[in-house]
Amino acid sequence: MKTFEMKVILSIFLLVSYVANGIEDGTCNLYDRRGLVETPAAGDAAGGAAAPAGGAAGPAGAAGGDGVFDISKCPNAKGDGSTDVTQSVQKSWDDACHSTANAKILIPQGEWLTGELNFAGPCTAPQPISIEIIGTLKAKPDCGAFPSGMWINIFQTGVKIFGGGTLDGQGCEAWKTKSPGGKALPDSLCITQCNASSAENINIVNSKGFNVKLVESHDFIADHLNISCAFDSPNTDGIHLGEITNATIQNTVIGTGDDCISIGDNSVDILVNNVTCGPGHGISIGSLGRYPDEKDVKNIMVQNCKLMNTTNGARIKTMHESPALTASNITFQDLTIENAFNPIIIDQHYFADKPGPSKVKITGVTFKNIKGTSLSQEVVTLNCSDAVPCEGITVTDVDFKYTGNCTNTTLVSVCANAKATFGGVMNPPGCPPA
Ligand SMILES: *[C@@H]1O[C@H](CO)[C@@H](O)[C@H](O)[C@H]1NC(C)=O
Ligand SMILES: *[C@@H]1O[C@H](CO)[C@@H](O)[C@H](O)[C@H]1NC(C)=O
Ligand SMILES: *[C@@H]1O[C@H](CO)[C@@H](O)[C@H](O)[C@H]1NC(C)=O
Ligand SMILES: *[C@@H]1O[C@H](CO)[C@@H](O)[C@H](O)[C@H]1NC(C)=O
Ligand SMILES: *[C@@H]1O[C@H](CO)[C@@H](O)[C@H](O)[C@H]1NC(C)=O
Ligand SMILES: *[C@@H]1O[C@H](CO)[C@@H](O)[C@H](O)[C@H]1NC(C)=O
Ligand SMILES: *[C@@H]1O[C@H](CO)[C@@H](O)[C@H](O)[C@H]1NC(C)=O
Ligand SMILES: *[C@@H]1O[C@H](CO)[C@@H](O)[C@H](O)[C@H]1NC(C)=O
Ligand SMILES: *[C@@H]1O[C@H](CO)[C@@H](O)[C@H](O)[C@H]1NC(C)=O
Repeated sequence: MKTFEMKVILSIFLLVSYVANGIEDGTCNLYDRRGLVETPAAGDAAGGAAAPAGGAAGPAGAAGGDGVFDISKCPNAKGDGSTDVTQSVQKSWDDACHSTANAKILIPQGEWLTGELNFAGPCTAPQPISIEIIGTLKAKPDCGAFPSGMWINIFQTGVKIFGGGTLDGQGCEAWKTKSPGGKALPDSLCITQCNASSAENINIVNSKGFNVKLVESHDFIADHLNISCAFDSPNTDGIHLGEITNATIQNTVIGTGDDCISIGDNSVDILVNNVTCGPGHGISIGSLGRYPDEKDVKNIMVQNCKLMNTTNGARIKTMHESPALTASNITFQDLTIENAFNPIIIDQHYFADKPGPSKVKITGVTFKNIKGTSLSQEVVTLNCSDAVPCEGITVTDVDFKYTGNCTNTTLVSVCANAKATFGGVMNPPGCPPA
């Protein structure tokens, strides 16, 4: 879905859910959580949502000092993995957001089951608002619990997520029933229009759709994330970026059934450093050019990464019949890539189901010091657009061994419509000059 439609749907949804939340779960406020008021006994919450309790509702956030909004202090909230605590978590965010002091939502030890969560502003609490996840948040297995197609939607600037805990998307059933070409499955952690935010030291497992989807933001840091999904889970990109300026993804381990990291259109000043990837489809710029309003991608650095058992390694992919845009100043350096079919690849015929060529101009791309093993003979593939040939491609110190099954173990570079120079140790040798 394109971002604009997403925004409209999300806005409508946020409004509805905000209204709904405002009238439910009224006792779940700051005082309860700070232990100043007894919380009602956890009663008979069997399986249902945290009941709309009619108890004494103090005005949330009226107290001075910093607020910790501990979801376990909400009436009927149980971290047993089967009680639905959606309303408790939602109310905790709403109270944190609308408090006037520094605010933190706390997900303590336990397994906390929820449907869709909307962590939206505008907030009155000072930034950053913290979300500390120590236990496990579990998504309901049923996709119907996520009407906007997302599980945790963060839609507020200045949010800090951390704590060593886990987001478990419980995607296994959803992957099995997904029809090819059907509706996309809900993404786990969606961060939209969140400037100056970060996610650190969190495990994200078994997402139904993308694990992390970061869009329309600037100044983001992802650090020490641990993302894993089954190798055959469809469209479970580890981290997808779109319309992002100034983001760093570092010290992170990603193994999924799709791209470890995908960097979409209008992304600028992106650093990917010390990421371990595999299984999965590799680290990709793109795909670019699917939608008519896409914008340029530039200043991307991918360095010190290790990719193991990924179909692709370092990849740039663009679609046919794209708008005219540019992808420039992109560097992949100091990478180890083991057992990839396409270790280094520019593919301007990605999903080439339309006849017209790609009009994404790729210029200023460096592949440098990349070593490893290849399951195919074709280690370097520069398959560019005949409408806008690639320019300024530099390939230096690429050293691979063949680990496939064929008796012919000769490695090759293959180029089309690419102005490329090759230098340093080249195994395979580069393409002859175009
Ligand atoms: C994020 O930054 C952009 C660009 O500086 C700005 O237009 C936008 O309003 C900011 N978003 C929020 C939610 O503060
Ligand atoms: C990029 O983002 C980081 C982390 O949020 C921030 O510290 C830095 O100042 C930003 N850089 C620029 C040029 O805005
Ligand atoms: C990362 O996730 C995997 C799979 O869930 C788990 O086995 C491993 O312990 C995690 N690593 C850390 C540092 O939490
Ligand atoms: C690289 O990332 C891994 C995984 O998070 C971490 O264990 C290691 O310390 C990082 N290396 C450096 C030099 O920071
Ligand atoms: C190219 O991108 C790098 C970051 O990867 C940045 O440091 C450099 O300034 C960019 N070069 C230009 C000419 O913008
Ligand atoms: C990569 O695949 C090989 C062969 O299937 C397997 O033995 C190895 O454990 C895998 N390594 C990783 C890190 O997934
Ligand atoms: C190599 O052969 C084995 C056994 O026939 C097969 O399972 C595997 O998929 C083959 N690998 C490649 C890269 O073709
Ligand atoms: C081995 O593969 C290379 C690259 O595809 C090809 O040029 C060569 O002719 C092949 N050798 C044999 C003996 O088939
Ligand atoms: C480039 O990709 C097209 C479409 O997949 C394919 O037909 C063509 O053979 C490729 N060219 C090279 C040089 O790999």
